Amino acid sequence: MDMFKTIYDLGIIPVVAIDDADKAVPLAKALRDGGLPAAEITFRTAAAEEAIRRISAECPDVLVGAGTVLTKEQCDRAIAAGAKFVVTPGFNPEMIAYIKSTGIPMMPGAATPGEMEQAMSMGLTNIKFFPAEANGGVAKLKALAGPYQAAKWMPTGGVNTKNLNDYLSFDRILCCGGTWIATSADINEGKWDDITKKCKDAIKTMLGFKLEKICIYGDSANAEKNAKFVAALFGFDVTECECGLEAGSLCFGKEESDAKGCIVISTLNGNRAKAYLERIGAEIDPDIWYDKKGNVTCFGLKDTVAGFEICIETK
Ligand code: 3PG
Repeated sequence: MDMFKTIYDLGIIPVVAIDDADKAVPLAKALRDGGLPAAEITFRTAAAEEAIRRISAECPDVLVGAGTVLTKEQCDRAIAAGAKFVVTPGFNPEMIAYIKSTGIPMMPGAATPGEMEQAMSMGLTNIKFFPAEANGGVAKLKALAGPYQAAKWMPTGGVNTKNLNDYLSFDRILCCGGTWIATSADINEGKWDDITKKCKDAIKTMLGFKLEKICIYGDSANAEKNAKFVAALFGFDVTECECGLEAGSLCFGKEESDAKGCIVISTLNGNRAKAYLERIGAEIDPDIWYDKKGNVTCFGLKDTVAGFEICIETK
């Protein structure tokens, strides 16, 4: 699969400065257990290369990349150790050209229109926007998005669970990066459960799963009567929907079905929700709905739960 599609689907890339390579594999497992099997290991520490090597060898299901790559030698060492992508903090044309020449997927760092133009003139459209918050945050990216139609950004620097969705709700954001998921202090102290929890919290924020509606299929002959009864009791309006008649967050199905009904869960991003559920082992029904841009708008689980279909809709 395209590397950048995988990165988009992950939505968040933990940025890591690791002091002890022995901590690399437990860290990778903690991230994976939290549903975020990825890490940008920064060359800010002497252990970076060995950490990449161990994660690459022992946790092949964790997408490991190299960050803060400032020299050609670091780039070569990262690739030899098994890095699957390379990130730079800034735009050094000579370095960017060298990394690109190796063929490894890369995200050059850029913070100004001039740097972004240089990146795009080299065919590099996936750009790390760093340091994001100090450079104007998502407002700056929205202003740059007009002239730079092809660019997609990975903002890092000051991103955390609080402002994550300010970025991710903008459809030109590839993913967000940041050290808040796995801080150096937590890694040094081996706080793997805390790191796993921070992954889960970030995913919860990113996907925003919410119970939207319950459709009841069991009494299709009386759908209208039932919908009107509930609506009259609680002051809801009755409206037509695809599968029946809605009264508030309840829907009374008009068609016969083998299932008892459908539980509709909304999410802020159908692509990332589907990818996440697949990562954690959920079986997805192959009948998936997409919009014109190819984004997932609706999908369901393959199996019913307590006789109910589970359907996930993009909000
Ligand atoms: C990076 O290299 O991407 C940044 O240092 C991450 O910034 P943060 O520590 O503010 O997340």
